[in-house]
Amino acid sequence: MTNRHVIIIGASSGIGRKMAEQYLEKGYRVGITGRRKELLEEIKNQYPALVELACYDVKTGNNDQELEQLVNRLGGLDTLVISAGTGEPSADLDWHIDKETVDPNINGFIQAANWGYRYFAAKKEGRLAFISSMAANRGGLHAPVYNAREAFESSYAYGLALKAGRISRNFSVTCIEPGFVATKMAKSDKLFWVVPVDKAARQIIQAIEKRRRKAYISRRWWLVALVLRNIPHWLYKRVG
Ligand SMILES: NC(=O)c1ccc[n+]([C@@H]2O[C@H](COP(=O)([O-])OP(=O)(O)OC[C@H]3O[C@@H](n4cnc5c(N)ncnc54)[C@H](OP(=O)(O)O)[C@@H]3O)[C@@H](O)[C@H]2O)c1
Repeated sequence: MTNRHVIIIGASSGIGRKMAEQYLEKGYRVGITGRRKELLEEIKNQYPALVELACYDVKTGNNDQELEQLVNRLGGLDTLVISAGTGEPSADLDWHIDKETVDPNINGFIQAANWGYRYFAAKKEGRLAFISSMAANRGGLHAPVYNAREAFESSYAYGLALKAGRISRNFSVTCIEPGFVATKMAKSDKLFWVVPVDKAARQIIQAIEKRRRKAYISRRWWLVALVLRNIPHWLYKRVG
């Protein structure tokens, strides 16, 4: 059982935390990261023998060094999930909000993703997974930077999936695009088809285990992605 090792970047709350708990229930050894140490310690206290934690900020921390040390403490790595992120509405294009939306999910994301890619490429096997968003499918009116950064993540994941495919069938890159998931990040006055966090975590883990290249959470959100990508501009600008 304990030859299965996963690290979740951004596991102190929300989707990442629920995934950590579900992996632990399956018997994985789990490395968890985030800035809020007390929340990471809560998880460790529940499963002291299976959890290792690293408390750092993906924007400013040395992701490579933190991850290497965490892998050493875990005793290996088979799956790396990047779930860290923030996102606030920014209808007035406030730079402070937009910078906080971009920094963890562009700079911190690339650094951690590149580290994970190199680690699994050297082993010729592994599962690398990114939590992007449905927002990746089209620019948005209420938080333009949020949609743009998610499009960046999904595009980057696709590029890494192409590269991983040249290395080995056992090296997969999975891009997850959730709709609304019931965490504190789901902020909109137009919420619909909200997915309970335990269901979201379960479907994400399944998609990673099945080495899917892309998964919508919940599954029926593929329809929204299709509509977002294809409805004409004259209609989208009225409803977007
Ligand atoms: N909830 C939704 O409806 C939804 C929909 C689509 C996509 N998503 C995406 O899913 C991902 C997870 O979101 P969530 O809903 O689970 O939100 P959440 O509960 O706020 O979780 C975000 C996680 O990211 C970590 N994090 C944020 N900034 C960080 C930083 N600078 N350094 C290190 N860790 C950081 C947080 O830990 P600390 O605060 O302890 O650092 C926390 O563990 C996000 O990337 C989000 O864009 C969410």
